[in-house]
Amino acid sequence: MRFESTFNLVLAAVALVAHAVPIISPDEIAVKSGEGLRLLSLAEDVEPVWKTEDEKLELMRAGIKFFDVTEVYDQEQKFPPKNNFVSIAATFPAPSHQAELAPILKTVSTTNMQTYLSALTAFNNRYYKSSTGTQASNWILDTVKSITSGRSDITASLFSHSWGQPSIVVKIAGKSPSSPVTIVGAHMDSINLSNPTNGRAPGADDDGTGTVNLIEGLRVLVAAGFKPSTPVEFHWYSGEESGLLGSQAIATSYKSSGVQVKAFMELDMSGYFKPGTTEVMALQADYIDEGLNTFLKSLITAYSRIPWAMDKPIGVPSSFPYEAVTGNDNPNIHSASDTTSVNGFSWAHSLEFAKIGVAFVYELSV
Ligand SMILES: *[C@@H]1O[C@H](CO)[C@@H](O)[C@H](O)[C@H]1NC(C)=O
Ligand SMILES: [Zn+2]
Repeated sequence: MRFESTFNLVLAAVALVAHAVPIISPDEIAVKSGEGLRLLSLAEDVEPVWKTEDEKLELMRAGIKFFDVTEVYDQEQKFPPKNNFVSIAATFPAPSHQAELAPILKTVSTTNMQTYLSALTAFNNRYYKSSTGTQASNWILDTVKSITSGRSDITASLFSHSWGQPSIVVKIAGKSPSSPVTIVGAHMDSINLSNPTNGRAPGADDDGTGTVNLIEGLRVLVAAGFKPSTPVEFHWYSGEESGLLGSQAIATSYKSSGVQVKAFMELDMSGYFKPGTTEVMALQADYIDEGLNTFLKSLITAYSRIPWAMDKPIGVPSSFPYEAVTGNDNPNIHSASDTTSVNGFSWAHSLEFAKIGVAFVYELSV
């Protein structure tokens, strides 16, 4: 779902846990996490708190949002506060590659996305601690490898974590590989909140749609012989439903190795809008990166048949297009009912988000 979704949110988490003097010592983290406790950041400017796995699940069932910072808290203390590495460009140029992009965008295929999604939803669930969750990661890796094979400038690899389910990272080097990187991401895990490990969680919309939007976006770019000037990465995150585990781990790792990020966009849920409502791409209204948001609006106007709409303020930072404004989004997530057969699911809707993903990458990196 949306809260567990953006690098911007990851940055917020980083800001949440960064102190001049760490209040929670490395020793305490080692001991408590060794006992199975998790360190959760529940709100801005509030020290994270220790919870058991059961308490954590109860919070999730109650719809309470948090970051699980157990594995990144320590390392984040080493960075200066507000080490904001995302969106180093304050403004982004207006879209200018309509002529080259038009034929590429025509090749984005809902049939392909359906095929990819069928494979992903066939796993009982994609929970970060279940064996099928790990199998799903490997399926994505195999799929993106077959798409990118034959391109020596592209690598596709697993990003391993301390838990079983790896994230997946595809890197397109670009002609100047040390330039800031443009990243698009989606979370590949799913969850059944009543029984995370064994329960059925197809996660078709959350976030099967974003996941297949990016696989298909990668496919059309590679098929078009796309060779960017600046580096591009496609990420599929593990463990997002359990507190943004995968994206935080990657963001922290990138910060420690000094990776500069030009821009980031998340696709998390793109396949549903409430029947009878007007179809839009919903953009967040608060804590947004203004430059990136302005750019996204112009991208949507240039490349999508659907208009953008500002969502209601919900108090979390983000800069990404979401399937509908709050209240018109998919109510079936985190359950066995998150399938493509719900009334309101629309491949034609999701297609537009895949196109915006392609346009985002292309416009920022060619
Ligand atoms: C979780 O999975 C079980 C078994 O697969 C299923 O019966 C139940 O409806 C699921 N829970 C939710 C919230 O969908
Ligand atoms: Zn999600």
